[in-house]
Amino acid sequence: MTQMETILVTGGAGYIGSHTCVALLEAGYDVVVVDNLSNGSEHAVTEAAAIAGRSIAFHCLDVADAEALDAVFGAHPIDGVIHFAGLKAVGESVADPLRYFRVNLDTSLTLAERMAAHGVKRLVFSSSATVYSPAASVPLHEDGAIGPTNPYGDTKEMIERILTAAGHADPELAVALLRYFNPVGAHESGRIGEDPAGIPNNLMPFIMQVAVGKLAELSVYGDDYDTPDGTCIRDYIHVVDLARGHVAALRHLAETQGVHTWNLGTGRGTSVFEMIAAVERAVGYPIRRRVVGRRAGDQPVSCADVSRAERDLGWRAERTVDNMCSDHWHWQRTHPDGFPD
Ligand code: NAD
Ligand code: WQD
Repeated sequence: MTQMETILVTGGAGYIGSHTCVALLEAGYDVVVVDNLSNGSEHAVTEAAAIAGRSIAFHCLDVADAEALDAVFGAHPIDGVIHFAGLKAVGESVADPLRYFRVNLDTSLTLAERMAAHGVKRLVFSSSATVYSPAASVPLHEDGAIGPTNPYGDTKEMIERILTAAGHADPELAVALLRYFNPVGAHESGRIGEDPAGIPNNLMPFIMQVAVGKLAELSVYGDDYDTPDGTCIRDYIHVVDLARGHVAALRHLAETQGVHTWNLGTGRGTSVFEMIAAVERAVGYPIRRRVVGRRAGDQPVSCADVSRAERDLGWRAERTVDNMCSDHWHWQRTHPDGFPD
């Protein structure tokens, strides 16, 4: 029997990380999670392991702590790394940019250095569609214009550049820069899902908290855009499809070297009004909403060109917007307050 590979997942106690742990375990990998629990829950790791019927080694640590990371690389035979850990709220990054640059850059640099010190050559990095310039043409292609408009996006672009330079310097490195579009949904078991701290910034968790009665109504940020129904269009992707995209990227990196960029989306756009209607189908009653002014910085349309990921990775998002809403609702109605504290 061939030896199972061991994958280190930073930020594996978070939303996308925990779903990726399930996908990795189901694909036969052993999984080690490191997370400082600043925005994650150890319950997410325990539940991910239980869904897959396997165990996960968990270490509570800060990824910017080189000594702590060295101990993890020393204790486990790590073959590859998926790097989710970091801060991700756009508005917060505008209010506190230094913290965003410090955390996102420190974690990524320290991780890349410790990987080099331990001879680990495979890295999958969580980038974002937010790196594209508002001037890039839609559907957004990986070679489209780059130009983030907030410090969070700046950190993603900077980390992409750092890892690209590292790849040029070490031809044995195999790096995947995955640009996620709008991840939503939850594992179909309802046992893990998104657990935002405080009032959610993003559309889906906000609608879900209205649906469950925790928030009174959704503010729709503008219905006067140049789109068919006047609301903004996004490429929402089911978090389980996204998680499986990471497994596909990891497999691809086992057979190739160099730095690769892939969009992970569905290639299909959904408006805010269409998303509200889909949630209403899932929950079975109307969602209170009020149209308010536009939110600063929103682009009318964001949608992925997914042809490169489909061609190179043999991966494709399979789940529909209705699947995203019903799975997210399953998680939300069974966990109205998220994971236990
Ligand atoms: P999340 O906040 O749920 O997960 C991130 C995890 O990283 C959390 O569990 C947090 O505790 C941990 N973490 C943060 N700083 C850490 C540190 N210094 N050391 C150790 N652990 C640390 O976020 P998510 O939605 O799962 O996003 C995962 C990654 O994907 C992030 O890098 C994010 O920027 C990126 N991304 C997310 C989205 C999205 O809409 N959710 C879109 C594009 C890209
Ligand atoms: C979607 C649409 C809003 C909330 C963000 C980040 C991006 C990436 C994914 C990490 C927009 C509208 C929203 C609400 C609303 N994250 N909306 N009422 O802005 O596309 O992307 O998350 O990398 O970097 O910017 O996602 O879910 O915030 O908004 O009407 O209460 O829903 O205007 O049109 P966005 P979102």
